[in-house]
Amino acid sequence: MSGMELIGSEEKKEVLDVLETGVFARYGFDTERKGVFKVRQFEEEFKRYHGAAHALGVTSGSTALSVALSAMGVGPGDEVIVPAFTFIATYEAVLEVGAIPVAADIDASLNMDPDDIVRKMTPYTKAVIPVHMCGAPADIGRILETCRSSQLMVLEDNAQSVGGSYRGKKLGTFGEMGTFSFDYYKTLTTGEGGMVITNRKDLYDRADWYHDHGHDHNPNVSRAMEGRTILGFNFRMNEFQGALGLAQLRKLDFIIAEQKKNKAAVKEMLAGIPGIGFRAIPDPDGDTATHLAFNFPTEAQAEAFQAALGAGGVDTVCFKKNKWHYLANWEHLIAWSTANPKSFPFTNPIYRGKVDYSIRQYPQAHDLLGRTLFLGLPIRMPEGRLEQIRAAVKKAAEAL
Ligand SMILES: Cc1ncc(COP(=O)(O)O)c(C=O)c1O
Repeated sequence: MSGMELIGSEEKKEVLDVLETGVFARYGFDTERKGVFKVRQFEEEFKRYHGAAHALGVTSGSTALSVALSAMGVGPGDEVIVPAFTFIATYEAVLEVGAIPVAADIDASLNMDPDDIVRKMTPYTKAVIPVHMCGAPADIGRILETCRSSQLMVLEDNAQSVGGSYRGKKLGTFGEMGTFSFDYYKTLTTGEGGMVITNRKDLYDRADWYHDHGHDHNPNVSRAMEGRTILGFNFRMNEFQGALGLAQLRKLDFIIAEQKKNKAAVKEMLAGIPGIGFRAIPDPDGDTATHLAFNFPTEAQAEAFQAALGAGGVDTVCFKKNKWHYLANWEHLIAWSTANPKSFPFTNPIYRGKVDYSIRQYPQAHDLLGRTLFLGLPIRMPEGRLEQIRAAVKKAAEAL
């Protein structure tokens, strides 16, 4: 479920290297750091793992999204299509760069419905952000096809499915850019942190400049003398995060393999229950198995099953009721309550579109998320836990 479960001597060793040099920042102090460049090394290993040309460490998965959108030139007047089921950061990042998020529905994969992209396109649409939610890939092949034929850029938000793939290719490498989160709940954690990857040098350069006040990172001059093309801000990853990331990345394939085993064991317990169904996964081999998502014909059945499982000590999430992952529950976003008193960018006169966040725009999400329960899977299944789940499932099935 999260790399936090495996924090151990490998992470300690990497962090100690940083403490010993006393250099915590990723840039500068080249003599004092004695060859230790943890963020740089993490980026190198991360891009190799993904088969991507470039990787840039940043402060979070949220800032990874806004850095990527800025690099892609998305801004005021633009619309970006985003699924109705995602963490709120995907919407916030679009607003942060001055653009407007437009909601797309989800399909049985519980990720963006490729067919809805065409319906949501307007003359203002600049990019699409498919999100690989809860460990499993979106139908990225079809999403890409649709976007390519309409000249729309694609930014994959892969905060929740690091290490996942689709037909043998790593998630995050399909679109123009891909982003990742390493916050404390994520499969690979650095406490807080994020990564942007891309195969395009021009986009990497813009992201690199933007994430560090415009510095062009020219290795031949001192930091104070570097050139700049654009303004930016500070989204720099620090050396402790880089150190943790290195140790965690080396555990990633093990984490996914363990989660897959645990998922298969629990799925087998549920499989025979009349009426139960499972989330459609476009490429099951590419699943990272952070969650098992299963559904019932009605919301009432899902509720009854959830209550009975909970009574047996097994908690599940119904995302229709979750406050942070489902658009219909974001009353502040629906009311355009941005941090500024003028409700920018919604009220920006440059923006000519008309955005609608009502449930009419994502009826499948409203239906599917109400009937679906998500069970988080640990990396290490504690002794006796599978038996506890089996007993709770048996009781819950009787409650249907
Ligand atoms: C889909 C998605 N996007 C973006 C983020 C933001 O990541 P962070 O918490 O690192 O800012 C998250 C975090 O939960 C997420 O789940």
